[in-house]
Amino acid sequence: MGKATLSVKAPAKLNLFLHVTGRRVNGYHELQSLFTLIDLTDTLHFTVRDDGLIRRTNEIVGLPAQDDLVVRAAKLLQQSTGTSLGVDISVEKVIPSGGGLGGGSSDAATTLMSLNTLWGIGLSQQELIKLGVQLGADVPFFIFGQTAIATGIGEQLKAFPLRPVYYLILRPNLAIPTPLIFKDEGLVRNSPVLDDMVLREGYAQWEQAKFFARNDLEPVALRLFPALANLINDLKEAGFVFRMTGSGSCFFMPFLSLEGVEATKQAVEQWLIEHKPSLSVEQLFVAKGL
Ligand code: C5P
Repeated sequence: MGKATLSVKAPAKLNLFLHVTGRRVNGYHELQSLFTLIDLTDTLHFTVRDDGLIRRTNEIVGLPAQDDLVVRAAKLLQQSTGTSLGVDISVEKVIPSGGGLGGGSSDAATTLMSLNTLWGIGLSQQELIKLGVQLGADVPFFIFGQTAIATGIGEQLKAFPLRPVYYLILRPNLAIPTPLIFKDEGLVRNSPVLDDMVLREGYAQWEQAKFFARNDLEPVALRLFPALANLINDLKEAGFVFRMTGSGSCFFMPFLSLEGVEATKQAVEQWLIEHKPSLSVEQLFVAKGL
């Protein structure tokens, strides 16, 4: 019999808003955030091993195996369930890191879910979420797997369906480490929490492709990276209002039509050619909400 194999796509996320509402004694922050999935994906390949070894077959240059979130996810599941099986994992990386798109967390969540099936473990989604939060605050959302309002540090999830939205995503030539933003003294906390009523009104605003709420991490990132602030503020003055996802560095604009997003993409491309910002833009691309 051949070895069990599986190839799975791991999608990126956007935080459509992100409110920091508190700080826990362990340093983690309480949030209220609307997370959604987009069709920008890594692809993971799993092949079961019967000798119990867990190997990443295409190692990331410079990243020790113990820091690889995919390997850590597999080991966590193996240790907590006592299975004697192992796995070879390779990752085709597309989602950039340091962009606020959650690629590493999505890969980890996909690993937990795939091995739960391949190893025949049968943990429930809620049990996987409990394991996932040990790997990172965004991992539970990717296990939940649909647009959701997250509270707690990101592990309490409530489905919040949106109709299909296109996003214009701008990736500056800058990778931002998440802890740098969260540990900044200037981070505003205890900002007002949206109640259900406001969320319903917010939903109506999305129907008109407008922003609601905000990302509390954005002012911190813009203060720490002045060249990023120049780029985003100049775009805003030109009428292109982007919002940051997660702790950055990517920014996005939502659209309800493909024509709308494509037209704005061309206009922003033209603006970039004419204005040559000091912080260059690595990528300007359209993604679809899942
Ligand atoms: O959980 P994750 O590894 O994604 O988080 C990276 C860092 O971001 C944490 O070490 C913490 O400093 C900060 N963080 C936080 N509150 C959250 C999520 C992340 O303070 N809800």
